[in-house]
Amino acid sequence: MAALNPGGLQFTDESTRVAHFIGIDIGTSGVKALLVDEAGRVVAAASRSYPLYTPQPGWAEQDPEDWMQATVASIGDLLCQAGRSIPVRALSFSGQMHGAVLIDSRGEVVRPAILWCDVRTQPECEEITAAVGRDELLRRTGNPALAGFTAPKLVWLRKHEPQNLDRAATLLLPKDYVRYRLTGEMAMDLSDAAGTLLLDVGRGRWDTGLAELLGLRPSLLPPLVASHEVAGRLTAEAAAATGLPAGIPVVAGGADNACGAVGAGVVQAGQGLVSIGSSGVVLVQSDRFRIDPGGRIHSFSHAVPNAWYLMGVMLSAGLSYAWLRDQVVRGGQGRPGAPGMPDVPGLPGEPDGQEATGGQATVYELMDAEAARVRPGSDGLFFLPYLNGERTPHADPFARGGWIGLALDHTRAHLVRAVMEGVAYRLRDSLELIRPLVSGDGTAGGTESKGATGDVGSGIGPLRAIGGGAKSPVWRQILADVLGVPLEIPAVDEGPAYGAALLAAVGAGAFPGVAEAARACVRVKSTVEPNAAHQARYDEGYAVYRRLYPALAQIFPAMVNLAR
Ligand code: XUL
Repeated sequence: MAALNPGGLQFTDESTRVAHFIGIDIGTSGVKALLVDEAGRVVAAASRSYPLYTPQPGWAEQDPEDWMQATVASIGDLLCQAGRSIPVRALSFSGQMHGAVLIDSRGEVVRPAILWCDVRTQPECEEITAAVGRDELLRRTGNPALAGFTAPKLVWLRKHEPQNLDRAATLLLPKDYVRYRLTGEMAMDLSDAAGTLLLDVGRGRWDTGLAELLGLRPSLLPPLVASHEVAGRLTAEAAAATGLPAGIPVVAGGADNACGAVGAGVVQAGQGLVSIGSSGVVLVQSDRFRIDPGGRIHSFSHAVPNAWYLMGVMLSAGLSYAWLRDQVVRGGQGRPGAPGMPDVPGLPGEPDGQEATGGQATVYELMDAEAARVRPGSDGLFFLPYLNGERTPHADPFARGGWIGLALDHTRAHLVRAVMEGVAYRLRDSLELIRPLVSGDGTAGGTESKGATGDVGSGIGPLRAIGGGAKSPVWRQILADVLGVPLEIPAVDEGPAYGAALLAAVGAGAFPGVAEAARACVRVKSTVEPNAAHQARYDEGYAVYRRLYPALAQIFPAMVNLAR
């Protein structure tokens, strides 16, 4: 009997002859898995969530076993929907970046993984910068030492848990750990390795000299592979656990942002995306390794061979909205993760985000409707989305959020719209910094951006919009108006997991390359054009918004102190 998947596709005799691929995203709040056929159609989808632990304020840890269990369960769910006879030819991964997973010589996990959103390592970042030199670090790794990156976590372990670092034989990142459990092989792909601060990002090889300088054994660093390369084969044990055939290729996969880009069709220089997930990202692909001399924009390797991307990351994008939903709109129910932790269950379009209120609309639909009633600019109300410190452009773990400009005539609808606009303004900060680094013909600007206002989008074409926030029509329009560029909405909005499925297809030989796979499979379903009148209003709003952080920056540490 034919089974019906959520998208309404029927599994027929024919579908059991067509090659299928699985893409799995090991995210911060859970796993998302997609079963995709060789034409790029999503034929089944599954997700499983897991906890995020905060043993101390500012810490963020996860149990790698939870990722493994959620992965196995999600694959089971896919096969249950599609039928066990569906021919899965390969699988691959996308994953949250930067998380340190230490493995000992027996292959056991040494301690819980320390995640990208953990901000305990500010002193270690300062130490690394002093030891290596700020410019030298940028030249070698493309990036400054930031609290979320992996090397500062290892330096923290050297100082605070030396016994754990001594026991460790290999460093893996989250998705690499799950791949290792499925194949028995340890490896790291270039796009994820770029976020460790131990990769020579320009040359695509480990900077072992840098590791030594930081007191870290180079032997911790696993073999490097390209994102589309086969990194191992499914073991008999993993086959029995998942229901997949033993021996199928397990393709390396990539960092979530790189896979999100592939899944959104960002596969050539000058193309870019904006993503609102837990974090918020603006990313533009580059055909050469370029750095922001100011160190505010990340420079990472892409999952497309011989390509890089420049990226600005804000830490609390969807998180701010989920916090608003829980603490203001729903009246203080629950918390979006523990204090300071951007664990966002249920962004718009995700299971918890769909929860209906009053049997009518989802809570996010109601919030959208409220926001739509307010004029662009929220009548002078601003929201600073620094709920967990900030990364781009102010690498400041002490930054804190809030509304500013409140007046008696403001309503809850203004609070909602101001949050959407505050996130959009922050993403514009990133776009403004990236724009001068990629000049019109795709050649390096390489000069320090002064963050010029106006003419934001010149040189950068339409951006693909992905992530839970991009599912909101009101937020999408605000983003297009604030960024001043058209936004293209991909037909499949599961960017990272979809990108991982395409990498699996490339690894299995279904496409000649990553760019070819994306061009063949990714389709844009609609475009949101900026509204000229709103854009002018937001240019004025942005000029005010840019003055708020500098005015408050000196006061934030005292606020953080009061919370201790
Ligand atoms: C990128 C980053 C985040 C995580 C989220 O540098 O820290 O986007 O990858 O999963």
